[in-house]
Amino acid sequence: MALSRLIINGFRNLQAVDFEPNPGFNFIVGNNGSGKTSLLEAVYYLGHGRSFKSAVSQRIIHYEQPHFTLHARMNEQQHEWALGLQKTRQGDTTVKINGEDGNKIADLAQLLPMQIISPEGLSLLNGGPAFRRAFLDWGLFHHQTEFYACWARLRRLLKQRNAALQQSSQYAPLKIWDDELSPLAQQVSDWRRQYAEALRPNIEKSCRLFLPELEIQVSFHQGWDKDLAYAELLAQNFERDKNIGYTVSGPQKADFRFKANGLPVDDVLSRGQLKLMMCALRLAQGEHLTETKQRHCLFLLDDFASELDQHKQSLLAERLQHSASQVFITAISQDQLKQMPVAKGSLFELQQGELARLP
Ligand SMILES: Nc1ncnc2c1ncn2[C@@H]1O[C@H](COP(=O)(O)OP(=O)(O)OP(=O)(O)O)[C@@H](O)[C@H]1O
Ligand SMILES: [Mg+2]
Repeated sequence: MALSRLIINGFRNLQAVDFEPNPGFNFIVGNNGSGKTSLLEAVYYLGHGRSFKSAVSQRIIHYEQPHFTLHARMNEQQHEWALGLQKTRQGDTTVKINGEDGNKIADLAQLLPMQIISPEGLSLLNGGPAFRRAFLDWGLFHHQTEFYACWARLRRLLKQRNAALQQSSQYAPLKIWDDELSPLAQQVSDWRRQYAEALRPNIEKSCRLFLPELEIQVSFHQGWDKDLAYAELLAQNFERDKNIGYTVSGPQKADFRFKANGLPVDDVLSRGQLKLMMCALRLAQGEHLTETKQRHCLFLLDDFASELDQHKQSLLAERLQHSASQVFITAISQDQLKQMPVAKGSLFELQQGELARLP
């Protein structure tokens, strides 16, 4: 999958950007505040319906504009799609695919699998379990067609159960929710476990390459005692859940933990090593998608050179080339791109939100 044209209007300081990305490497250089991260954020927004930086989408809209719009053309296996997304200050979102309204963000996300490697992304390793669940669920979203609907239904049921918890003094009325909830929770956990297992060889291979000095272990935790059926646990925990006011254990608490030499990675790894581990995980997930689904995801690398020594920069360049994916890489200047195959890709410069192709 690759974007063959990208048009960005009213997105942060990118008032009117229109360009034809290279199907391979795209290098974007520019001074601080020129709009490099914003350009990656725009691509990310198109594939996620949200930003990786701001929780409030309205703040992304250019100060003087009523909305932002993103348009892209993408190709995959001889098919072409026209994609569009608009977000207004009032919070309305319109998604268009091949000129048709009424599409959802999930439809865009399905078409645009992408991986981001950015300073914010370190929360995958040093943030809460939600970031690692999102990592696993990204994989499930692209591998297991029923996952998204099942997980959405499960989350709705959990909300309803939590509301019911606060109103009942007995367990009996809750059983109606739990009978429906339990098989879904079990299913989501099984899928997550299977995916985590299937991904493990890719992660191990990738970590050996990027962090050969460390022994990395990965483990999936489903969010409740693995020897207990979920229905049984919900019944057992009724009093505790009621006192706390919500359902404490379950797939909403799952985690995918990483250790280095037996210790939590965020305790022992240097910042550079954390960044390398993030690269290893994201590349592993992309490679796994290609191996199993013959799909290529798009890679977004913000401020790629920071914290990486030259050897690690060239290793990353090599792995990205090997992935045969479309890649967008930002850097302050061309000097930082010495380890990258700049001649094989396209080079762009951003100046105060204006993009120009460099020879
Ligand atoms: N809603 C908005 N409207 C207009 N401009 C905005 C908006 N939000 C942010 N900006 C500005 O957009 C610019 C782009 O910032 P961005 O983070 O993309 O820069 P950058 O090139 O990645 O810089 P750095 O090298 O420091 O990381 C900044 O000058 C910022 O102040
Ligand atoms: Mg930036």
